[in-house]
Amino acid sequence: TQDELQSILAFTVALARSAGELILEGSAKIRSSGAVDEKKNSVDLVTEYDVAVERLVKSKLSEKYPDFKFIGEESFAAGSRPEMTDEPTFCVDPIDGTTNFIHGFPHSCISLGLISFKRPVLGVIYNPFLEQLYTATKGGGAFLAQGMRAPARLPLADPPRPLPSLSQALIGIEWGSDRSLEMVEKKGESFKRLAGDPSTGVVKGKMAHSLRSLGSAALNYGLVAQGGMDFYWEIGTWPWDICAGAIIAQEAGCLVAGSRDAPLDNDVNEGVLWGRKHMVIRKIGDSETEKGVDAQRR
Ligand code: IPD
Repeated sequence: TQDELQSILAFTVALARSAGELILEGSAKIRSSGAVDEKKNSVDLVTEYDVAVERLVKSKLSEKYPDFKFIGEESFAAGSRPEMTDEPTFCVDPIDGTTNFIHGFPHSCISLGLISFKRPVLGVIYNPFLEQLYTATKGGGAFLAQGMRAPARLPLADPPRPLPSLSQALIGIEWGSDRSLEMVEKKGESFKRLAGDPSTGVVKGKMAHSLRSLGSAALNYGLVAQGGMDFYWEIGTWPWDICAGAIIAQEAGCLVAGSRDAPLDNDVNEGVLWGRKHMVIRKIGDSETEKGVDAQRR
């Protein structure tokens, strides 16, 4: 029920804020020690703080909600891979934007989602560097609280001005950590099509206003939800990158979709979460939304 979700939200927001303290402390320490490990390649990075934050969050969640399951980026990497069931399941990226965290680029967050019946129902994204807190519960709306300011309902503009054309869009992209030639060429082609090639651009004869690559999938979702970016797509994400963001964006009126094979019906289910390809778009009128979907789904 909404009451239950609100109570879980209060607990997870407090937990995300204390995780944020550890993230800030860790970012400063890592920048002096340089203690960074590589996972699958030299740009897939992890630190002791990714593990420590996940350990903190996992233990507090299992103490408070012993019956809920847990999927986390670092536990998954360490081999703990619970099957997705209908049971309530927390889905957590302890530090989304690890590269930013390591560099001190202040755009990194904890992303904490709750899945029920294989669909995201609650999301908390907290960027402690800029004190940005995005939250949502299914049916309860999405909000952004910045610093001491009271939470504002998303999208921030009320009502948001529909984008006249996708050619005027600001688009979020990411290079991700798969830098194989094939992947980089594929992504590069898409980026060129969106931003630099008017003959095949999102709208024929025109380019999108610009592309942004900020380094955190979860915060990209937050940005589209607030209306600061018009769409964001990526190939290569995991459920913990997008689970919280998906419900925040949906509650803010955005469309979230999986790969080309997944139906375009805003149903973020297990398939979409694990699909490794996704997009989120601010609704901007049906035909433009379709063009945007089409542009990234090719
Ligand atoms: C990554 C970031 C990055 C995105 C990758 C994610 P991590 O998460 O969100 O922006 O391009 O796909 O895996 O590794 O920083 O938690």
